Formats: sequence, structure tokens, C-alpha cells
Amino acid sequence: MTVIAVIGSQWGDEGKGKVVDFLAERADYVARFNGGNNAGHTVINEFGTFKIHLVPSGVFARNATGLIGGGVVIDPAVLIEEIEMLNKAGVNVDGRLWVSPRSHIIMPYHKILDGLYEEAKGAGATGTTRRGIGPVFADKVSYNGIRWTDFASDMFEQRLQMQLELKNKIIVALGSEALKFESVRDEYRGYYAKVKPYLKELFSLVQDGLKTNKTFLLEQAMGTFLDTDWGTYPFVTASTTIPSAASAGLGIPPKYIQNVVGVTKAYTTRVGAGPLPTEIRDTKSAEYEQFGEVAATTGRIRRVGWLDLEIVRTAAELSGMTEMCLTKLDVLSSLKEVQVCVGYKVNGQSVRYMDVDAYGLDKVECVYQTVPGWSEDISKAKSFEELPVNAQKYVKMIEDATGVPVKWIGVGPARGETIRR
Ligand code: GDP
Ligand code: IMO
Ligand code: MG
Repeated sequence: MTVIAVIGSQWGDEGKGKVVDFLAERADYVARFNGGNNAGHTVINEFGTFKIHLVPSGVFARNATGLIGGGVVIDPAVLIEEIEMLNKAGVNVDGRLWVSPRSHIIMPYHKILDGLYEEAKGAGATGTTRRGIGPVFADKVSYNGIRWTDFASDMFEQRLQMQLELKNKIIVALGSEALKFESVRDEYRGYYAKVKPYLKELFSLVQDGLKTNKTFLLEQAMGTFLDTDWGTYPFVTASTTIPSAASAGLGIPPKYIQNVVGVTKAYTTRVGAGPLPTEIRDTKSAEYEQFGEVAATTGRIRRVGWLDLEIVRTAAELSGMTEMCLTKLDVLSSLKEVQVCVGYKVNGQSVRYMDVDAYGLDKVECVYQTVPGWSEDISKAKSFEELPVNAQKYVKMIEDATGVPVKWIGVGPARGETIRR
């Protein structure tokens, strides 16, 4: 048995989808364990270009079986659409995609409440994806959730009725329209009929895999610093994102999670509100132009910043990172000089990420090291040695700062545009 967790070491969108897609060739199981369809993972391979929200990004590997663990929250319409989209693209997942019946279902009121809470917060909003993630996890931990098991045990109608009584009061008080029981019931019964063939209790399947020679590839959603406990609270997401979440979200005992691949972008991006110490605010600068990205789920423009080694170092410690995949190194090409944050200061004193809260992090002074860039296009490079010396130095600097070997280097968005060391 081998268990490999793939985790983002920044604020999400590090390129986890691409990494899981190329690592999946040696996996028996590819699994999601946290978050929901707030995730947007880009995969570019021989089947085409995909923005995936719920199905594990490794399902393109024919021999891999996809698992969606009980720790994931599911918007059924998104799941059904994604399965249909994959089937149309020639990636048939029937019989090799299993969804835990323990997973919680995103209901229409979760999405409405997500939007209403954001609007009520005004300038202090989190900048959520408005997919209902906070409200569905709140219901999960306050025993108000609805799971797929509720359909099988005939509890669905009763639980929905009770929830609508509660939720409609809040929705109406916040100025929106009450939801109708019959229409929500019928809509979700329809979803259940379509999702049912994919529902399967994962416990024995996972246990059998752990006892035999199977390889599990665990795909985290979001990034380390969006974790509810260890991220920049309250500017975080509603689920645990560090590798231990795979234990709760899939039923894999922690002792088995021995390989942790940290996906690290060569610079930093963030979507939504919250501190980004190395943020580049000059929207006319070459680096702002070069680092610019559009979010895979919401289409928002991602905020950008220089590489922050204190963030990556902290992620390595927190997650027990054993190896790293550095993505988007190609994007730095043509910059004469590159800034790298090597630490933080407050009133002249060095501080670490964990010493300050989100509001404090917003005010830290970044200590920058200026390193020389390179002008060559590196997108065709196939080996580390082919990279310009300054690009090689950039990689080594990250290894020195984190103590984690960089085993893969992304030089383009497609599966093959990856250097393996
Ligand atoms: P995820 O959420 O971590 O899976 O990342 P996203 O898919 O949201 O965002 C990563 C973006 O970077 C996507 O547009 C990818 O296609 C792209 N990408 C990933 N790796 C590389 C790379 O090495 N080079 C370049 N140029 N793009 C990359
Ligand atoms: P992937 O898996 C980047 C951010 C949102 C917002 C905060 C809370 O593609 O890396 P939520 O909708 O979860 O309640 O929003 O979390 N966020 C992400 N940012 N990548 C993601 O996923 C994200 N999922 C949530 O922008 O700031
Ligand atoms: Mg993403």
C-alpha cells in the first residue's frame, strides 16, 4: 500500500489538478477528501482541457478508480454535469467512480445563505465562491445536514421540511424569497436518481486497498492557508485542508499518509479577501501582467504576489511535506529580477506566520531577496540541466529554505510540460 497526498502549499490554485493528473498513471485510487465544488482544478491532457470541481482529477488514468469521500460536500447538479461532460469527452467513469453516501449535499438554501451572508458583511466579506460551502459545513457540524443516506432511509423529506422551516425564516428576514418544499424535494429526488448508481460505502474498499498493494492518490482541494484552523481565519474556507483531513474524509488512518507532495506555485496567487503579504499592487507592472490568472471556478481575477518562502516553509512543516512540485516556473521567464520573500518583520523583529493572525499578517513587513531572472523560454525544457542557471538556482533556493526536494517542475500547463528530476 502506498498513500500519496497532493496538497497546495499556498492559497489554492497551485496547479494540483495538473499534478494529480500526471501522478495518476501509477495510482489504483484517486480520491477527493475535503471541500466541495468551490474547487476548480485544471487538467490539460490528450482528452482536452477541463476545469474539474468534484470528480478527482486523476480519473483520466484508465486504471484508476475515483473516490469522493464523506468529507466532501456535493452540489448534485455540478456532479451530474461533470460526469456527463467526462463521458462525452471519452472518459467514461461508470463503474469506476464512487461517491460516499456519507457526503453532505449542498441544498439551494446553502447557496442563497452564502450570498446573503456575503452581502450582509459588505466590505468585510470573505469573497467566497458563493457555492454554499460555509453554510453546508455549518449544517454538517450542527447536526442539520442532509446526506445521501437520508434518501435510502426515507429521512430526506422529514429532514428537508425541518430545514426549510428554519432556513426560510432566515432567508425571508434577510430580504430574499422563501423556498418551496415541493419544488426542492422534487428537484433533489431527481438528482438522487442520477447519483444513486455512483453511491457506495467506501469503508471496505479503502480498507482492502490499504491491506493490499494498492496506491492511493489523495487530491486536496483549496490550499494550506485556506484551512479553517491553520489558514488566515476568517479569510479561509470551511474545511480542513491539511493532509490529516484525508483521514477523516476518507477513513485512511493517519499512519498511512507517508508521502505528501506539496504543489507550490513559483509565485503566489489568492482569490477573495484576506492577507497576501507579497501582493503586487501595481497593476501596470510587468510582473502583474505576467502572473495574471482567471479563477477556474468563479472567473474572478486572481490577486498576485511574489513567492513567499515563509508561507511555503510553514506549509512544509504543517503538512509533513516529503517532496515538492514547483509549478509555473515558465511564467517567471523574461523578468530581469525576481523578488522572493524570505521572512517577515514587525517593528524590526522577525516573526513567523504563526506569530500573527490574519489582520497582523496583513501588516507584516516582508524581507525580500532580489534574485536574477532569466530571459530564455523554458517551456520546452525536458531536464533540470536544460534550465538556465538562474532558474536552477531559484529551484535550489526553495529546497534550501524548506528542506524539501523539488521532484517535479512545471514549465507549462499541459500534462507533458513537466520536468521530472
Ligand atoms: P488547482 O486548483 O491547484 O488545480 O489550480 P488551478 O487549475 O485552479 O490553477 C492553476 C493554473 O495554472 C491553471 O490554469 C493550470 O492550467 C496552470 N498551470 C499548472 N501548472 C502550470 C505550469 O507549470 N505552467 C503554466 N504556465 N501553467 C500551469
Ligand atoms: P482550488 O481547489 C482558491 C477561497 C475563496 C474565498 C475562500 C472561502 O481550486 O485550489 P468558499 O467558497 O470556500 O467559502 O470561499 O476560499 N477558495 C479558493 N481559492 N482556490 C480554491 O480551490 C478555493 N476554494 C475556495 O476564494 O476566498
Ligand atoms: Mg483552482
